Amino acid sequence: MRRWLSTAFVLAAWTAATNGAVAGDVTAGREAARQHCTRCHIVGDLNTMSIGSTPSFQYMVNNLDDHEARFLTFYTLRPHPAFVRIEGIPPLNDIPSPIAPIEMTLQQVEDVAAFAATLREQ
Ligand code: HEC
Repeated sequence: MRRWLSTAFVLAAWTAATNGAVAGDVTAGREAARQHCTRCHIVGDLNTMSIGSTPSFQYMVNNLDDHEARFLTFYTLRPHPAFVRIEGIPPLNDIPSPIAPIEMTLQQVEDVAAFAATLREQ
């Protein structure tokens, strides 16, 4: 039941978030990405070191047609459900986060997606 509810929440959030263009704030997204994503991902010019095979943001936005949807739902995509907590959305599982959890709002998720989209080369 809990799991079903979580999925419903995520779908509702995704629908709200993808209704039209990404409505995030690029500047706020850059800061949120620096704070929450650079530990593992290379993010534009924010950092140069990442964890092994973790894809860089620029790789993803330039090579995945559905990058916008993936960024808006990243907290449901492995490995993130293990350690990302979104305000207002119940965790997708009951397993305690193995690292200090990354806590974000849905607005920040949209902000990061908007910022990531700016890394796309025309
Ligand atoms: C603790 C490490 C870690 C952190 C922190 C992290 N990620 Fe990731 N992320 C990964 C790994 C590893 C993958 C590759 C997963 C795979 O290959 O299946 C990934 C993949 C992704 C993908 C692609 C997922 C897919 O299945 O298409 C997106 C989008 C993404 N991350 C966004 C983010 C954003 C946004 C943040 C910060 C808010 C973030 N990640 C923080 C480790 C991390």
